Amino acid sequence: MSGLFITLEGPEGAGKSTNREYLAALLRERGVEVQLTREPGGTPLAERIRELLLAPSDEPMAVDTELLLMFAARAQHIAQVILPALARGAVVLCDRFTDATYAYQGGGRGVPESRIAELERFVQGDLRPDLTLVFDLPVEVGLARAAARGRLDRFEQEDRGFFEAVRQAYLARAAASPARYRVLDAAQPLSAVQADLQALLPQLLERLHG
Ligand code: TMP
Repeated sequence: MSGLFITLEGPEGAGKSTNREYLAALLRERGVEVQLTREPGGTPLAERIRELLLAPSDEPMAVDTELLLMFAARAQHIAQVILPALARGAVVLCDRFTDATYAYQGGGRGVPESRIAELERFVQGDLRPDLTLVFDLPVEVGLARAAARGRLDRFEQEDRGFFEAVRQAYLARAAASPARYRVLDAAQPLSAVQADLQALLPQLLERLHG
């Protein structure tokens, strides 16, 4: 039996966590086992790597260090959480995955796509999300929401240009593989975003059971 691997992507402040909980509740009401998780993180060791990645520090983090730490956390997360959950037949709802590496390290930091693709093959083998939900939001709206939440992490301290590049990278990836992505307008009221998620449900159940 194999489950379904769904990732949620988008900028800071796009409502990924709230919508992830909502989608999880819809699936659980229908008797589906849901594994909620996130990146970087998702296991105790990977959460420790997350702390290294997000904490502001006086020592600038080299771009390659950031890239490799993302994939180190991912390797641990895949082995400990994602593959076992998929093997049980669960739906894995993962807040960010490798699309975030293409968007932040690729779009934001300028790492060549080919280098990310190489690490993706090395760490993931054939594992790719079955579906990626991109919560799209104008940059200034997302940044204002993140700022309202309090102290900014190392990524949230980046400038507007960085987040514009992140947004465009997500949209370009979604446009290049429309079968794997759904772009949701996260600037709509929450109830409208949730109606979009509800509309997706029959297809998800069919893919899971079909
Ligand atoms: P968040 O999950 O609370 O949004 O924070 C995670 C941060 O890490 C976010 O700013 C995006 C960033 N990130 C990357 O830069 N590359 C990645 O591969 C992942 C998974 C996250």
